[in-house]
Amino acid sequence: MKNRILQKPFRAALAALVFLPLIAVAAGNDGVAGNGSATATSRGAELSAAAARGQKLVADRSMGNCLACHTMKGSDVPSNVGPELTNMKARFPDPRQLYAIIYDEETRNPQTVMPPFGKNLILDPQQINDVIAFLYSE
Ligand code: HEC
Repeated sequence: MKNRILQKPFRAALAALVFLPLIAVAAGNDGVAGNGSATATSRGAELSAAAARGQKLVADRSMGNCLACHTMKGSDVPSNVGPELTNMKARFPDPRQLYAIIYDEETRNPQTVMPPFGKNLILDPQQINDVIAFLYSE
């Protein structure tokens, strides 16, 4: 009983660790279109660094390998195993939804062929956020 109570703040901290960068990514994205202040500019630079890392991850066969199944920006060869990943900001305005899909698509569709990247420790939370930054950069 005592243990369970002690675990709660730990879990909250863990959740914050996972989701805070996501919120930062979403806020940064909006900041780019903002007023061009120093803050918006440095946030924009940060985002494009994350998006650039994400772009490498989606192509890396030992990491995301998303291009094997999805057509997305920057890929020459169309892949039709999964749906085309374009217009993502409009289709998935909540980054947490994308995070959940990439973390473990089996929770939405137990029959999916898409690997559960987070659950199986193929991508760590930072890397999933980088991939989301790339998807949002399209
Ligand atoms: C082995 C093939 C495969 C790989 C690799 C793969 N996916 Fe998927 N993905 C799918 C399939 C198939 C679906 C369709 C939904 C389902 O099966 O549940 C899907 C669905 C999705 C969706 C939901 C799209 C929508 O319109 O509903 C997103 C987002 C997504 N994948 C992102 C990624 C990202 C990011 C990566 C790389 C980190 C990736 N996928 C790697 C096969 C794959």
